[in-house]
Amino acid sequence: MDCDQTVLTFIEFFAERGHELTKGSSLLPPQGDSVLYTSAGMQPLTRYLEGAPHPLGARLAGVQRCLRTTDLDDIGDYTHLTVFEMLGSWSLGDYGGPQSLRWGLELMSAGFGIEQGRLYATAFGGNDEVGPDIDAVATWRELGLPVELGGPQNWWSNGPTGPCGPDSEIFVWMPDGPPAGSPLTDERWVELWNHVTMRYRRLNDGRLEALARPSVDTGMGLERLLMVTQRVGSVFETDLIAPWLSALLGLWPGLAGNGGRPLRIVVDHLRSAVAVIGDGVLPASNGRGYVLRRLLRRALIELWHADRSATLADLPPGLVEQTLDHFGQQAGPGFVGGVLAAEQGRFAELLTRGRAVLRRLYPDGALTERDYRFLHETHGLPGEIVTELAAELRP
Ligand code: SER
Repeated sequence: MDCDQTVLTFIEFFAERGHELTKGSSLLPPQGDSVLYTSAGMQPLTRYLEGAPHPLGARLAGVQRCLRTTDLDDIGDYTHLTVFEMLGSWSLGDYGGPQSLRWGLELMSAGFGIEQGRLYATAFGGNDEVGPDIDAVATWRELGLPVELGGPQNWWSNGPTGPCGPDSEIFVWMPDGPPAGSPLTDERWVELWNHVTMRYRRLNDGRLEALARPSVDTGMGLERLLMVTQRVGSVFETDLIAPWLSALLGLWPGLAGNGGRPLRIVVDHLRSAVAVIGDGVLPASNGRGYVLRRLLRRALIELWHADRSATLADLPPGLVEQTLDHFGQQAGPGFVGGVLAAEQGRFAELLTRGRAVLRRLYPDGALTERDYRFLHETHGLPGEIVTELAAELRP
């Protein structure tokens, strides 16, 4: 099943069960939202999860592109992406958690053909505020799926305040052989689909308030699902992202070193940057634009480690276009290429200037906290760049 068929299967499954398709939002959350980027499928639905009636009704499903910088240090492994898509289903005060879990298992097994023996569930084990999610445990037992109780990772919230609740997560066993251990003891169980029973709202003063109308919010990473159904070893080898992997490997074979980690980082960061630019963001020294700038700089640092003469001008416009098309974005590859080239030029200049300053002031590459502050305040050199440049100088 390719990416498009997979999305269609998900949407049709929920449409057959009375769900309307939501359009979602871009990576930029709706006006008035305090966060920089949409970081969860439910984010554009926050006010409806808190009780407002949704114009499309009480059962929704959709695909939402998201950006998470909380996982930035995990990027380079096999399952994390900065920009990813979430398949989501929602019951706004309609059916409850158990029904959502039942449909979840049905779709995994009958819809996507994942053997039940490769699945494991976790459920909220309770804390001093809220008791264990006994409904979820009872449902999984009835369905014959092994379930274990988890702690804070089974409590879901999209920030310090707002709707939240117990989260039951479906994990899938990735290796070919028979499963071992459980999601909490063996990381070869990969988290696939979260089913959150939104029963509470966290208030500004930290108190938890029961919602008058509880809802269900589910979210499943599309790329991880593809990795499972297409039986490949990483999200980068799915039909959605493999074109990036092979194009970049062809252009810059040096990225394949270190187990391919640099290659995965550069693929993730550049593809994410294209999506961000496609949604109308330009590199800047703060806010949204700074997230983009950091992504590009991290990508360039990896790239220039592997190949000093590499340039983003070599990125095939067709590859960029494919990604913009996938996200339904209006920007053209020429525009995106221009933004990338300008940012690369700016960064190259900063590195040249920074290198000269460091060579002059700290020829042995030894710097204190104060030196970092001085370089930032007086020479505009960010800490992570200074660390890079200092490492070049150290014997
Ligand atoms: N809100 C949950 C998540 O982002 C489920 O959609 O994982």
